[in-house]
Amino acid sequence: MFIFAHRGVSGHFPENTLQAIQAALDCGADGIEIDVYALEDELVVIHDRELNRTTNGTGVLEDYSLPELLKLDAGAGEKIPILWQVLELVQNRCVLNIELKGHDTAALLVKLLHKARSELGTDWSTLLISSFHHPLLQQLKTLIPELAIGALTASIPLNYCAFATEIGAVSVHCDRAFIDEKMVQDAKQRGLKVYVYTVNNEREARRLQQMGVDGIFCNFPNEAKNWFE
Ligand code: G3P
Ligand code: MG
Repeated sequence: MFIFAHRGVSGHFPENTLQAIQAALDCGADGIEIDVYALEDELVVIHDRELNRTTNGTGVLEDYSLPELLKLDAGAGEKIPILWQVLELVQNRCVLNIELKGHDTAALLVKLLHKARSELGTDWSTLLISSFHHPLLQQLKTLIPELAIGALTASIPLNYCAFATEIGAVSVHCDRAFIDEKMVQDAKQRGLKVYVYTVNNEREARRLQQMGVDGIFCNFPNEAKNWFE
């Protein structure tokens, strides 16, 4: 079972912070999932557009200038990182799943990835770019065909995983509430990996493995690694 640290080790550290990402590297997670939004000319690492749950800010992201946003406390004194800092920290040590939230992230990501490849030595083959915004993924795949794309869904679509094949994805990322054998079988026939979010329970993780699921997004990756040893 492939274990993604969901928003870093978010079960023990403030989600989507460098601390949570460092913890994921330390515990040997197979992959790290983070969420990014575009703000001004940066991609900022945060899950909610509304700031009150994960920071000491109020209102929504775009109410803030970039310098203002980066001053907020994202928990335990941690700051909201920019994607560049995460790429610098992870340094190709595991798969980095960048989930694109909101709009207008594709062009910024392309620019940043080119810069990261030349300045940080970022190996694009360690990246997996996902989103619930499928036209955005399609656009990205056109801009950089070699990028691995993961198609997110919180539903069982009429044609099962056809949407993922259509945008050239390598994987489907499914909600645990809906995943079933038929969806998994369809994915397998299409040569797609199946990753399920968010699974924090051992019994459920084992059941999914028996169903043929390839990996899970987990807030407790350290514990999850032990479930499958
Ligand atoms: O990428 C998997 C999962 O993170 C998708 O949902 O809302 O937690 O970003 P969400
Ligand atoms: Mg996410």
